[in-house]
Amino acid sequence: MSTDPGYWRHACARSIDTYAPGYFHQRPWLREDFLATPREQFVPDLVWWPDARDDGLYPQLDRTVRPRQWLEAVYRPLAALITQMDDGQTPAANGPASGTFTSSISCPSIVVDMLHHLDPQPGENVLEIGAGTGYSAALLARRLGPRRLVTMEIDAALAQEAAQRLLRLDPALEVLVVTGDGELGYPPRAPYDRIVSTAAVRTIPPAWLHQVRHGGTILTPIDTPYGHDALLTLTCDGAGSATGHLIKPVAFMKLRGQRHQPPWKNLGWPKELPVADAPPWKHHRVTAGPTGQRIYVHRAR
Ligand SMILES: C[S@@+](CC[C@H](N)C(=O)[O-])C[C@H]1O[C@@H](n2cnc3c(N)ncnc32)[C@H](O)[C@@H]1O
Repeated sequence: MSTDPGYWRHACARSIDTYAPGYFHQRPWLREDFLATPREQFVPDLVWWPDARDDGLYPQLDRTVRPRQWLEAVYRPLAALITQMDDGQTPAANGPASGTFTSSISCPSIVVDMLHHLDPQPGENVLEIGAGTGYSAALLARRLGPRRLVTMEIDAALAQEAAQRLLRLDPALEVLVVTGDGELGYPPRAPYDRIVSTAAVRTIPPAWLHQVRHGGTILTPIDTPYGHDALLTLTCDGAGSATGHLIKPVAFMKLRGQRHQPPWKNLGWPKELPVADAPPWKHHRVTAGPTGQRIYVHRAR
C-alpha cells in the first residue's frame, strides 16, 4: 500500500464522488481544491482514533511509528481524527486516553459537504468559527482568494498551530486566524457574505445575525432533540434576523460556551416532537432574531 499522500487523496475523492446529493456534485471547484490541498499537512503526528477500545481508552495513530496507517486514516472519507481532549488537559503524548473530545479534524466527506452547502463564491468575505487544525479554512481560502477569510478559534494553542499551517501552505492567501470566542463573531471585518461554523450551536449567536449582510448565509450544525446535530442553513436580512431550514443529520462538538444543555423548550423547539416518525429535515423551518429562535415542523398539505 502506498505512502504517497496524493494516492490517498485521489482515492478519498473517488469515494466522495459516489456520495450524492451534495458533496462534489455541481461543485467542480471543490473537487479541484480538495485535490490541491494536502490534508496530511494539517493533521498532527499523534491523534486519537474516535472509537474506544474495550478498556474504554481511545487508541492513537502515530505518524512517526506507523506512517502508512496514519496516512490512510487521514484520508478515510468518513473518519474524524481527534486532535484535542479535555481542552488540552490530556496531552496526546500520554498515550491512549479517555476524555471529552474538544477538537478534531472533521472527516473529509463532511468538510466537503459543508462547503457544498455553503457554496462560497470567489472574492466573498467569509467568517469561519472553529479553525481547529486550519484544514477547512485552507479549502475555503483557496476558493475565496487572498485576504477574504477570517477564522476564529477559542483555543490559543490550536489557533497558533492553524495559523502556522495556513501560512506554510500558501502565504499569499493571508488568512486571518483570530484567537477568541467565535460566538461574538469578528466585527472588524463585518459584514460577511457568509458565516460558517464547524462547532455546533444550541442557540444561534445574535452576533452572527448582525454580522452577515442582507441575503448572506449562516451555515452551522445545531443540536437537535433527535439525538444528534443537524446542519442548518439560514438566510440573513442584514438587520439581526434570519430564516432557514435544517439540511441533514451531522455530529459536531458544541461551541465551548454552549456545552450545557438547556431544556428544549428554552431553545425554541416545539413542545411535541414527532420523534417516532421524524419528518424530512428540510421541513424543519428555523427563524432567528431579536425575540429568539424558533424551530417548527412545516407540513406540506
Ligand atoms: C470540529 S473542530 C474544527 C475543525 C476544523 N474546522 C478543522 O478543519 O480542523 C471545532 C473547533 O471549534 C473550536 N471552538 C469551540 N468553541 C468555539 C468558540 N466559541 N469560538 C471559536 N472556536 C470554538 C474548538 O476549539 C475546535 O477546535
